[in-house]
Amino acid sequence: MAKVTIGIVGSRFQADCIAASVKAMPEEAEVTAVASPTTGNAEAFARRHGIPKFFCDYREMLRDPTIEMISITVPNRLHAQVTIDAARAGKHVVCEKPLCVTLEEADAMIDACSKAGVLLLYAEELFFAPKYVKAKQMADEGAFGRVHLVKHSEKHSGPHSSWFWDVEQSGGGALMDLGCHGIAFCWWFLGKQKVKSVYAQLSTQVNSGRTQGDDEAITIIEFENGAIGVVENSWNRLGGMDDSIEVFGDKGQTYADMLMGNALPTYSEVGFGYAVEKAATTTGWTYPVYEEHWNYGFPQEMRHFARCVRGKEEPISDGETGRVVQEVLFAAYASAGLGRKIMLPFRPKGIAKPIDLWKMPELAQAAI
Ligand SMILES: NC(=O)c1ccc[n+]([C@@H]2O[C@H](COP(=O)([O-])OP(=O)(O)OC[C@H]3O[C@@H](n4cnc5c(N)ncnc54)[C@H](O)[C@@H]3O)[C@@H](O)[C@H]2O)c1
Repeated sequence: MAKVTIGIVGSRFQADCIAASVKAMPEEAEVTAVASPTTGNAEAFARRHGIPKFFCDYREMLRDPTIEMISITVPNRLHAQVTIDAARAGKHVVCEKPLCVTLEEADAMIDACSKAGVLLLYAEELFFAPKYVKAKQMADEGAFGRVHLVKHSEKHSGPHSSWFWDVEQSGGGALMDLGCHGIAFCWWFLGKQKVKSVYAQLSTQVNSGRTQGDDEAITIIEFENGAIGVVENSWNRLGGMDDSIEVFGDKGQTYADMLMGNALPTYSEVGFGYAVEKAATTTGWTYPVYEEHWNYGFPQEMRHFARCVRGKEEPISDGETGRVVQEVLFAAYASAGLGRKIMLPFRPKGIAKPIDLWKMPELAQAAI
């Protein structure tokens, strides 16, 4: 069967990651087009990655009949519109995290893809991160007995683009940006059980001059069988990205540190090119990672999605996954606003963005 042809919307951070990841496992898919609005960006991106077609307007790219799947790497507030446009054009969709901003958007995206008969694939790469996949395999074999606690932590020194800091465009702060990974991870690790309740403690410790968003977040998720997920996020962790898990059961436990745990403890007085995402320096003691995309699972994720398009595999992360995460995000912001645990299902209507439930607790109260 021919390779699945992909058009990327967006041409910066995550677009680079997707293009490089598809190239790293090239047997199932290829990126054949890119669209990005800033003059010259799509062309420069296409040249850098050896992509034949480039467009300023993604809608023009959607009219190209040779493209089968769209990878959406644009700010959160645009995910829903691009997904719906792509579905209407008959393209399968890979949407970056978080799925969208509002719960209504999540419904509309799932509905549009279902009506168009295309796949909506939610890009949660932690489901493919080799170390975390190994931890889950061991858990599923019973290595830890009954797992009662799963922890995921993702922290860095703050986002690279201004739109993340603008809650009108992002929908929230560190919880929305990084916590979506941890919520998805705990849910997946514990077998995609129903979420029973959510409690979150949010604060803006360092960046209140720069954002309305939370820059520190701790979220506790209670699952149907009583197991607990704990998700820790920060935009104030200096020294480069940190991503790790801990898993505890009545017969054992495991720990996995995706980045520092796979790094080369290094000392250099003069520095070198690159250590790890968001590290400000490469001098002194640093922890350079190798095969960074591979360790996260991005190439494996895109291979899986391409195989889903060809009917060779069933999606393990889809629009429903993104909607589960979105509901927990809303519940977490409401919990922080009200200072109490929120029971699920929690489907408040007409809330413009999750963070409003933290900033305006009266909205959260009305939604319960
Ligand atoms: N899975 C992950 O670990 C991961 C990592 C980083 C980012 N992301 C997600 O990917 C998405 C993009 O983040 P990023 O870091 O690449 O942001 P970025 O700021 O680096 O890039 C955003 C891109 O969107 C483009 N864009 C803006 N408006 C557009 C429009 N109207 N039409 C088409 N393109 C438009 C910009 O030109 C730019 O190329 C976000 O949703 C983010 O949460 C996921």
